[in-house]
Amino acid sequence: MVKPRAQLYSLSVCEHGGKREQVAKGKILDFSTNLNPYGPPDFVFDAIKAAIEGLGRYPDNECSELRAKISKKIGCREEEVLVGAGVSELIQLVAYSFAKTRVLMLKHTYGEYEIAARVIGAEVKRIEMPGLRILPELIVDEMQPEDVVFLCNPNNPTGQYLGKEELEQLIEAAERIDALLVLDEAYVDFVRAAFSSHSCISSTQNLLILRSLTKSFAIPGVRIGYAIGSEGAIKTLRKIKAPWGVSVFADSIGTAVMGAEGDIFLKATIEKIERSKERIENELAIHSDANLYILDVGDAGKKKQELLKHGVVVRDCTSFGLPSHVRFSVRTDEENDLLIHSLLEECNVKER
Ligand SMILES: Cc1ncc(COP(=O)(O)O)c(C=O)c1O
Repeated sequence: MVKPRAQLYSLSVCEHGGKREQVAKGKILDFSTNLNPYGPPDFVFDAIKAAIEGLGRYPDNECSELRAKISKKIGCREEEVLVGAGVSELIQLVAYSFAKTRVLMLKHTYGEYEIAARVIGAEVKRIEMPGLRILPELIVDEMQPEDVVFLCNPNNPTGQYLGKEELEQLIEAAERIDALLVLDEAYVDFVRAAFSSHSCISSTQNLLILRSLTKSFAIPGVRIGYAIGSEGAIKTLRKIKAPWGVSVFADSIGTAVMGAEGDIFLKATIEKIERSKERIENELAIHSDANLYILDVGDAGKKKQELLKHGVVVRDCTSFGLPSHVRFSVRTDEENDLLIHSLLEECNVKER
């Protein structure tokens, strides 16, 4: 048997949220996937129908219409945008294209960065998070020339968001040191008054931004996201991107959600989510800048099982290096109430 490459031996498949079978049967409320609880929006189904007639042709490899829409919306050039099959694909493209000897990432963050880095044989350097906080100065202290720095902002699973000043500090450091700062903004739509990081793209070669449509529109089954970066960086990613990776359906849905209907849907639902967050934060005495929270419950694996008996599934954060924390997302008020009551009953949250 042909053996896999040496660096793959010690790799395991990255863990993700979601309890597919039980959730699909409607038996369990899924708080583990961080999706907008009000989606997918109805107009997405019209976009699917519209795409059917394109089934017999290869998809538009450039996703021209969607790319044009994204660039117009965020005010950058089309050459600075690449559409991909979700941020998942883009993370791998970034690692294959730019990672050499070292990749930096937070101590507790999304697991796919490490896999992408190790596949290409790069050293993974984790940045400490004292008190589970991101300290930008610790990232700057670690940066070396040629490093690729994955920063999940807001961070999965801790929910902290670094704002304008901190991001500008990191971008300035990446330029000075000549590292590549990669901002994964998969959850940025849920952040109140987030900094428009894309406004920096045209003035730096050292920044790449990855955005997902998955969470905002609750379309994990679609696989669509985009990267924004300098023309040179986007051209490089484009070279190794698998052809036709964005299906005609994903392209059509992406084009629909990036339009006016998508804006209306987002505005209305994010307002509701923000109101729900106030309630969760008051009840459980926690805070997050995003639509996801972590909570110290003592033994995450055990508590997750106990919570399942209440009909709710949360994410055990052991794979994030946080074996005493669970992560959960914001759902509708009625659903959040069930989670809050279950947490108060099972986890002694108030007595911590
Ligand atoms: C931080 C982060 N980035 C990227 C992804 C994957 O995004 P996509 O669905 O666009 O591939 C996830 C999904 O859980 C995530 O949490």
